[in-house]
Amino acid sequence: MDTTKGKINAARAALDYIEDGMVIGLGSGTTVHEFIKLLAERVKDGLRVICVPTSYNSRMLAIQNGLLVTDTDAVDVIDVAIDGADKANEIALLKGGGGALTREKIIDYNAKKFVVIVDESKICKGVLEGIVNMEVLPFAAPLVMKELKDYSPRLRVGTGKLGPVVSDNGNFILECTMKLEDPKSIEKYLKSIPGIIENGIFTKFSTIIVGTEDGYYRLV
Ligand code: A5P
Repeated sequence: MDTTKGKINAARAALDYIEDGMVIGLGSGTTVHEFIKLLAERVKDGLRVICVPTSYNSRMLAIQNGLLVTDTDAVDVIDVAIDGADKANEIALLKGGGGALTREKIIDYNAKKFVVIVDESKICKGVLEGIVNMEVLPFAAPLVMKELKDYSPRLRVGTGKLGPVVSDNGNFILECTMKLEDPKSIEKYLKSIPGIIENGIFTKFSTIIVGTEDGYYRLV
């Protein structure tokens, strides 16, 4: 399937959640990039919104497209967060492919509404299975890896830089392979391990918009 069309259709459908005067949480990734471009067209037509981005990448794209950006200390509420996912089913998302999961979860979970936008290739039938990304304090990484030894823990290594990827917050990104029979309890378990700042299992969202080649549907 043409995933670009799916991303654009999901992003376009998310515009229905945007109203004049809103504060918008901007997730990260290529699907959100499509949303940023479409939102920018509305802003050119007179829509007034302020965006709180979840990564340097989204912040730069938003500014390049003429959107007004601010930070968490300058807004009272986040009316709606729009964000993508690496994988999704009805009860959970796997996120963090772009290494922005911590700021994403902070913004997405604090928004009054969290709208997930994905193309159809991201949807999993049945139990979610795959890479669970985590942001880990470098000092704690060896200990966290021991704790998670049953899940093939490995530090993400980048291109364009030797050694581990360093997140926007100055931490390492740890990847594990997991099968999520009960995503909520694994999310909570990972959160309880000292040194893990945040994990890429997201179980709180308002709706999932799935973009197809010629339209969209809501999974939830
Ligand atoms: C960023 O860290 C991720 O959580 C993204 O939201 C996720 O990887 C989806 O990205 P794409 O829209 O590029 O697939």
